[in-house]
Amino acid sequence: MLRTHTCGQLRVADVNQTVTLCGWVQVVRDKGGIIYIDLRDRYGITQLILNENSSDTDVIAQARTLSREFVIQAMGEVVERVSKNDKIATGDIEIKVSALEILNPAKLPPFLIQDETDGGDDIRMKYRYLDLRRNVVRQNLQLRHKMAQQTRIYLDGQDFIEVETPVLIKSTPEGARDFVVPSRMNPGEFYALPQSPQTFKQLLMVSGFDRYYQIVKCFRDEDLRADRQPEFTQIDCEMSFVKQEDILQMFEGLIRHLFKTVKNIDMPEVPRMTYADAMRLYGSDKPDTRFGMEFVELNDVAKGKDFVVFDSAELIVGINAAGCAEYTRKQLDELTEWVKRPQVGAKGLAYIRFNADGTLKSSFDKFFDEAALKNIADKFDAKPGDLILIIVGEANKARKQLNDLRLEMGSRLGLRKPDEFKALWVLDFPLLEYGEEEDRWFAMHHPFTSPKPEDIPLLETGDLGKVRANAYDMVINGTEVGGGSVRIFQRPLQQQMFGILGFTEEEAKKQFGFLMDAFEFGAPPHAGIAFGFDRLCSIFGGADSIRDFIAFPKNNSGRDMMIDSPSTIDQKQMDELKIKTVL
Ligand code: AMO
Repeated sequence: MLRTHTCGQLRVADVNQTVTLCGWVQVVRDKGGIIYIDLRDRYGITQLILNENSSDTDVIAQARTLSREFVIQAMGEVVERVSKNDKIATGDIEIKVSALEILNPAKLPPFLIQDETDGGDDIRMKYRYLDLRRNVVRQNLQLRHKMAQQTRIYLDGQDFIEVETPVLIKSTPEGARDFVVPSRMNPGEFYALPQSPQTFKQLLMVSGFDRYYQIVKCFRDEDLRADRQPEFTQIDCEMSFVKQEDILQMFEGLIRHLFKTVKNIDMPEVPRMTYADAMRLYGSDKPDTRFGMEFVELNDVAKGKDFVVFDSAELIVGINAAGCAEYTRKQLDELTEWVKRPQVGAKGLAYIRFNADGTLKSSFDKFFDEAALKNIADKFDAKPGDLILIIVGEANKARKQLNDLRLEMGSRLGLRKPDEFKALWVLDFPLLEYGEEEDRWFAMHHPFTSPKPEDIPLLETGDLGKVRANAYDMVINGTEVGGGSVRIFQRPLQQQMFGILGFTEEEAKKQFGFLMDAFEFGAPPHAGIAFGFDRLCSIFGGADSIRDFIAFPKNNSGRDMMIDSPSTIDQKQMDELKIKTVL
């Protein structure tokens, strides 16, 4: 090897050893007679020192040609430092350099390769390989590596088998948009990249694999956000001969194992909440349970006081921002403007101040006397010093708007700490949701999810919105990190489901005939789940965006800025694929 040690390795115990280090020049400080070089590699930084009085003049001359990010090899003796640096692990020693070789010079990088960089998003994405030299980004990928290792250790310990499923598969109409790949050998035909290995893992259950997992790339052509990438990774799992409870236990076990081994956190048993309760109490199917501020519905105490805004609303619902009664009029106006922004879309914000002296003051005092306000405050168990914030309107919209406000207040009050972790199972999702625009029912999770057995009769009566699914999500700190379901495993029920989703028998057979056929050859009862691996990593890393936990991510327009993709292909390739230029 070109080196005897790494740049993070040497300590006082190594003093007097002759060593050779390799790495990148972080900085050169030429203090006249003495030259200091910070040499960096993935393991740390070691200070090199050259002295005009004692070092070889050629070596000194060469050191003076160095600049940031040069790749060098340095040989020398480990000496104890006079002034130590307790900020780095090697800060007690330095290397008195006797020989220096430039392995490769470097152009000046377009941004500072340090924890605090001066590079904006775009430039860092274009030069991602340089960004990856920064500690913060590299550490995220090291965390990801550790999480993948520990996932494999846990699942292997539970007898799961890792099986790879194909990446060139078939386009299906359900779910998000597919990325498609033209087939040269079958002109006019396309493969699709998998949105998830869902049907394949179910087929593996039919094959008797019993416990499957895969850390697998999935592809979805959807609008991007901080927690969405067009290609992302799932920890995809499936089990046979299990009930929902078995899945919850097994995968709660995985999450607790990860918290313990990666972060040394003893995660308590994961609480459970039904979808209906989550919507009622938080207006969201992925509530952030690091803080309370649950919704309180006020129709019974707020209607009938001749306040038309309340009387005409389907739902009057509020939260208690504890300790915020001192908000000034200006702050409340600003908050009102905040909820009126199109992103939130509320018509307004009503409030009750529970003053420190015990008096109550509201934005609708004209219609409510103090006793009536106290009546409302009591529903929140509010105390002097609290501020009640109320939103009214059509029930679903009001809940969604108040969810936005709750999260915003949680952030403003510092209640959403990145180093605190609260997991939650959300259970009993509706099986179907109605698409107004398309005028048809959609599977809320996917078409293979089993209805709750007691709700199956509702599939016949047409009360489809009321049918609950044996489906579950795991939520951590308000992010959906995983979701799954007990599956349909009988052909007639699967066929009925496709019918409800608007497939003709012929279409269902064309799209999913292979799965329905398989169900007739001894399909075991089975269930599974998939975790968003990038999301899990970003939560463990205390970050909002999954981008920095992916080595080479896409930007918000789905572009890889570094390799400049997507890109056009030349006419020859187009001809081979029998694709006509449309643009
Ligand atoms: P689902 O569609 O809920 O389920 O996906 C599982 C988890 O994957 C993550 N995820 C994403 N992460 C980053 N970028 C994206 N674009 C993205 N889309 C989803 C989420 C989500 O919870 N086959 C089923 C699972 C099953 O039923 O077993 C599935 O894919 O964290």
